[in-house]
Amino acid sequence: MIETNKTERYANIIPMAELNTKAKRLNPFPIYDQLRQSTPVRYDENRSCWDIFRYEDVHRILKDPATFSSRRGMDIKRRETILTMDPPRHNQMRGVVNKAFTPKVINDLAPHITSITNELLNTVEGHGEMDIVSDLAVPLPVIVIAELLGVPPEDRQLFKDWSDILVKGPDENTEEAFNQVVAEKEQASEELSAYFARIVDQRRTEPKDDLISQLLSAEIEGQKLNDEEVIAFSVLLLAAGNETTTNLITNTIRRLTEDQALQQQLKGNPDLIPGFIEEVLRFYPPIQAIGRVATRDVEIGGMMIKTGDQVISWVASANRDETKFKNPESFVVDRKPNPHLAFGFGIHFCLGAPLARLEGKIALRTILERLNEIQYLTGSELSYIQSPFVYGVKQYPITFQP
Ligand code: HEM
Repeated sequence: MIETNKTERYANIIPMAELNTKAKRLNPFPIYDQLRQSTPVRYDENRSCWDIFRYEDVHRILKDPATFSSRRGMDIKRRETILTMDPPRHNQMRGVVNKAFTPKVINDLAPHITSITNELLNTVEGHGEMDIVSDLAVPLPVIVIAELLGVPPEDRQLFKDWSDILVKGPDENTEEAFNQVVAEKEQASEELSAYFARIVDQRRTEPKDDLISQLLSAEIEGQKLNDEEVIAFSVLLLAAGNETTTNLITNTIRRLTEDQALQQQLKGNPDLIPGFIEEVLRFYPPIQAIGRVATRDVEIGGMMIKTGDQVISWVASANRDETKFKNPESFVVDRKPNPHLAFGFGIHFCLGAPLARLEGKIALRTILERLNEIQYLTGSELSYIQSPFVYGVKQYPITFQP
């Protein structure tokens, strides 16, 4: 039997060997297609985990938390959060934050998110050129989540640096690079926790109208959450919400520049925007894969997965599975239905999905309203985010006519 400790460490940090060139990291989708055909369920000795590539299998895993647990242990010393809990504790803890993230509550933020977006664009509009990542896609989600949590938005560079490290993979495939990345993650995680510990302390004595104060007053079966739990929740919201939404916004504008005819079509017809965002989520999912651990011996696609094995479900591959999506390689702006798995599925379905969708829609709408002839700055070089599961680019310079 496979030793769980080892599997936890490798599967979550080392990228798949097949994605061994820059071109493949920037466009991994043909590799997923090949693997989905050749080895839809396979064990990877190098990373000590199973990789699952078909929609049907990924869906089955995500909807069966009893067999595929989220308690996948931790490759680094992190506090436990809903992301790594199973029922019944998961339902109780998730219930505490659900109310803060309903589509109704989130949609009320639309005017405010629109004005933040406009302010960010004001600073670059006259230049005819901007970097989508640093000028819009990074600051927008950080400012929004910082305000929701009730932490100073001025600290956003700190959050950005910490969340970058938390999703990072090693620069090279060596034990040394691996250990270094683990050490960096531990340090970032400790610093983030210490940061939130101070805020939690302040809110205990002086509650405000923010999410941290709400978490501090919430009760589960008559019991309040302790400081550790509130800190862990805050760190999760900050880390889970930022990098992902940044990449959704960047991937959206990337798509817009890749298809000029579509850009014109959208400009004349903003009703297409929500469908466009869903299709970006299917086509370029910011999170490519989701990890679980088998709680019993179980067969998937004719292969026997053993208790304790680490199972990686490739949603980016599932989203292009030809048995589920007609013409999966085509970007269809009004694809219906579009049951992509970019936000996961089942009890762990992304809590922040309404917020991410709203930010994506507002960013796209505002850009289309204010900028014309948006194009990728030719000659600039793309570099990918060094992470096993996060999909995105570090910069995306564009040119436009105001
Ligand atoms: C869970 C993706 C934005 C908070 C998840 C999961 C995925 C995901 C795939 C499921 C993980 C699993 O099953 O193990 C994304 C993507 C986003 C995004 C692609 C942006 C486009 C956000 C935002 C927030 C957030 C903005 C918060 C402000 C969470 C939380 C969970 C989660 C708390 C854990 C839910 C649970 O375990 O019950 N997200 N996310 N996410 N996401 Fe997101």
